[in-house]
Amino acid sequence: MENFTFYSPTKFVFGKGVENDAGSLVKSFGGTKVLLHYGGGSVIRSGLLGRVKDSLVASGISYIELGGVKPNPRSGLVYEGIELCRSNGVDFVLAVGGGSVIDSSKAIAAGTLYDGDFWDFYCGRPIERALPVGTVLTIAAAGSEGSGDSVITKEEGMFKRGTGSEAIRPRFSILNPELTTTLPPYQTACGITDIMAHLYERYLTNSVDVEVTDRLIEALLITMKNMAPRVIADPCDYEARANIMWAGTMAHTNACGVGRSQDWNSHNIEHELSALYDCAHGAGLAVTMPAVFRYVVEHDVNRFAKAAVRVWGCEYCSEDPLSTALEGIEAFRSFLKSIGMPGNFAELGAREEDIPVLVKNLCYGDGRDGTISGFVTLNEEDCTKIYKMMV
Ligand code: NZQ
Ligand code: ZN
Repeated sequence: MENFTFYSPTKFVFGKGVENDAGSLVKSFGGTKVLLHYGGGSVIRSGLLGRVKDSLVASGISYIELGGVKPNPRSGLVYEGIELCRSNGVDFVLAVGGGSVIDSSKAIAAGTLYDGDFWDFYCGRPIERALPVGTVLTIAAAGSEGSGDSVITKEEGMFKRGTGSEAIRPRFSILNPELTTTLPPYQTACGITDIMAHLYERYLTNSVDVEVTDRLIEALLITMKNMAPRVIADPCDYEARANIMWAGTMAHTNACGVGRSQDWNSHNIEHELSALYDCAHGAGLAVTMPAVFRYVVEHDVNRFAKAAVRVWGCEYCSEDPLSTALEGIEAFRSFLKSIGMPGNFAELGAREEDIPVLVKNLCYGDGRDGTISGFVTLNEEDCTKIYKMMV
């Protein structure tokens, strides 16, 4: 196991009705004037936004609002949010929504206290300070409620880039699984896929003897495998929603990723798809992961075989461990299909003729030198082959 520091100070408040604590939580973290940030309207339709506002008012906290965050959140609204925060003396950003709303909130929080262009943070400049951020989560997926990460798309050129800093890690996150029962099945499945991707990205490691985190990841993957069919069949299954929601948070606080190298090649390959086609991140990952896994399986057959046996219940074939490894990858692919995820470029709305553009943005965007690295270092030729496997 490698040396690590783990500091994850977000306060999680979990369970039925906890969104009514939003006001007192903001107050306890020193907020007096809030930017209430949300998406395209689901939180208005569900009545959640109204309850959060009531809770703020009850705690004597004033607020201004900025809705309209799109999935794969854009830079334009971030600039607008920064101006609003500055001109209204906002001292706390409260995100009510999913990963897109939370990521946009984090960008606004950092940009408000920075004299330059907030996009600098998404081009490598470290974030040193930000307004405090809190979240009321409405979809189990990105894990942004417990992470110091934010992913934003710049409209000019549709570049999707990420940043990470302790300064933007949420002070608190309100997790009520009931809020996720209004999700359409497709969005539910996208979230499930993203959570499992966050687990696999950590599972694919070159570190040795990391049994404790291997076992944590396997437990979370098995939980997702068992709970996913329940929420697809019955969106109001509270216990299954609750298990998925906490698994989603645990998958991405990095509690199960410390002390080991991680992969993230699938995420990098996917981000080019959601940037170019504006598809859901989870859907893009469903098409990406099986292809990446098959491409890199021989780098460490035993690691894939271990997941096959421990997570997917495959039988280990000692004469041919590669067949076990491939069986596990296939089990994962069929699972994704069974919850309604796309399996190829056509189902995702991607085009084979765009592969050169995808590869160029992937391998040279974000200051890269022609390769992406993680579990395996991949060059342009590798990435081209992987995208072709998805066609
Ligand atoms: O905008 P509204 O109307 O709220 O609708 C949203 C949106 O259309 C809807 N939705 C959310 N909660 C709902 C609901 N509809 C009905 N009932 C509810 N309870 O779902 C749609 C998707 O929402 P979004 O916030 O985009 O989903 P998600 O949480 O999957 O976030 C995706 C974004 O997070 C980034 C992705 O790249 C993508 O941009 N990621 C962020 C990470 C991080 N910050 O740590 C890590 C991830 O790997 C990921 O890259
Ligand atoms: Zn993700």
